[in-house]
Amino acid sequence: MAPVTSLSDSVQQQLASALAAVRPQAAADPLLRRSDRADYQANGILALAKKEKANPRELATEVVAHITTGELIADIEVSGPGFLNITVGDRAITGNLAARYADDTGRLGVPLAAHPGTTVIDYAQPNVAKEMHVGHLRSAVIGDAVRQILEFTGETVVRRHHIGDWGTQFGMLIQYLDEHPHELDHGAGEVSGEEAMSNLDRLYKAARRLFDSDEEFKTRARRRVVDLQAGDAHTLAMWQKFVDESKIYFFSVFEKLDMDIRDADIVGESGYNDMLAETCRLLEESGVAVRSEGALCVFFDDIKGPDGKPVPLIVQKSDGGYGYAATDLSAIRNRVFDLKADTLLYVVDARQSLHFKMVFETARRAGWLNDEVTALQLAFGTVLGKDGKPFKTRAGETVRLVDLLDEAIDRASAVVREKAQDLSEAEIAERGAQVGIGAVKYADLSTSANRDYKFDLDQMVSLNGDTSVYLQYAYARIRSILRKAGEVRPAAHPELALHPAERALGLHLDAFGETVAEAAAEYAPHKLTAYLYQVASLYTSFYDKCPVLKAESPEQVENRLFLCDITARTLHRGMALLGIRTPERL
Ligand code: ARG
Repeated sequence: MAPVTSLSDSVQQQLASALAAVRPQAAADPLLRRSDRADYQANGILALAKKEKANPRELATEVVAHITTGELIADIEVSGPGFLNITVGDRAITGNLAARYADDTGRLGVPLAAHPGTTVIDYAQPNVAKEMHVGHLRSAVIGDAVRQILEFTGETVVRRHHIGDWGTQFGMLIQYLDEHPHELDHGAGEVSGEEAMSNLDRLYKAARRLFDSDEEFKTRARRRVVDLQAGDAHTLAMWQKFVDESKIYFFSVFEKLDMDIRDADIVGESGYNDMLAETCRLLEESGVAVRSEGALCVFFDDIKGPDGKPVPLIVQKSDGGYGYAATDLSAIRNRVFDLKADTLLYVVDARQSLHFKMVFETARRAGWLNDEVTALQLAFGTVLGKDGKPFKTRAGETVRLVDLLDEAIDRASAVVREKAQDLSEAEIAERGAQVGIGAVKYADLSTSANRDYKFDLDQMVSLNGDTSVYLQYAYARIRSILRKAGEVRPAAHPELALHPAERALGLHLDAFGETVAEAAAEYAPHKLTAYLYQVASLYTSFYDKCPVLKAESPEQVENRLFLCDITARTLHRGMALLGIRTPERL
């Protein structure tokens, strides 16, 4: 299947060659945009005229003289100070969509990127022995959407779930459990993942309290960390138990989230333990890090803490212990030199931005990162409650992610039940989960990641507005029309003149590939979300204005069914990239 050149790319090419004919030396970009006045508007001539101190309208007229109108460019005119307004032919619109429709690879004719690379994406990284909260939701949802969008463009993507499974807190936990063996005696092995996890979480909190209040326990706990890092068998076995139990729990949450997280991609902090000493040696020998009061530190002039004072990055503490930074620096070496990545992407809370700034700058000074191999934090904002404050329970505690997901599924099931006509209880439960989880993901993916957003379930499952349910209903309605059509098959008829609502929908559908490419280049899934919402809106107005099954001729019926079907396929493909299901019936 040959990839399809989008209409805007074809028009852009024609304009570029006309421009090159008029001004061979200029290498000017026509700057083509979608426009309300015509199909497209080109603004590039204005900029060129300004540079040349030429009359823009005259230059534009000259360019137009080099364009042959026809099937693609049906009409072109100079407007305003020197814009070009371009209208493409109906035949070209239907023809392009027909070529996309014929692509049986599921890519809708979208080409792969010309020079794909290798990205390691660090996302969905909860912490062992701790509950998952809404912050972990964002990393998982945004990360998995970015991963799928990148893969769609042909990028090689390696996933890394950098779970918190190492460090002081495990010495603390293990020591506490050794001293209070009865605390986990709730018939271990028989409890569910969820119950085991809340036991662990409780244990963690109790251990933390003791650690903070009892100096002697603190010393014993610290000794335990050393045992752990030295590989003491008993300590290691207890640690492994915590990790295994937590993983069972993580997987149950990821499954609820309808997310394909693979065990092999989980490389937690502990996975870099063997590299830590070497990382420190390399940094110290190269002079990137220096000893300061026993600790190994990296200093920066231009990176300041929240109080405006410069902060150092501590790679090794004065007691010899390694922390979060040493682990991340080792992970960079692994990802660059072993996994051969050219891009390292970290989907992590904005509150860790200072950490990553310092870690990346350190890696750059060490020569591990450079112009060819770059690292970037895709920082996300905070999830807020309806009151606009960070999301907490009434008692002021962090909200458990599972509770939130269950509530979303309950609300969505109620919506589905209310609308359902011929659905069984089992179907309502299945659709409820697809709608509820879709709603949560969509809300997360419809604002740009760096912004905070309000977690408002009522709004998320509303049928009207910018929600996943709206898109899922649009999809299900199209599928129902296609079923109703029975024997009549969708077929493109490029000879038919298009209604303005058909043109608007068609031109937008043709831009799917460009939108995915843009979302990939900017790591911005919200651009795809906005695009899909627009698909559903344009479809709705097409459906309002253009009868499908009752259209005036058999060809018209087939052509409109074809428009319906390619709309459905685009919605399905796009939603799948966001990790959202499109049920056949709702
Ligand atoms: N586990 C950390 C947390 O829950 C996130 C890890 C982010 N990734 C990294 N390479 N540091 O906050």
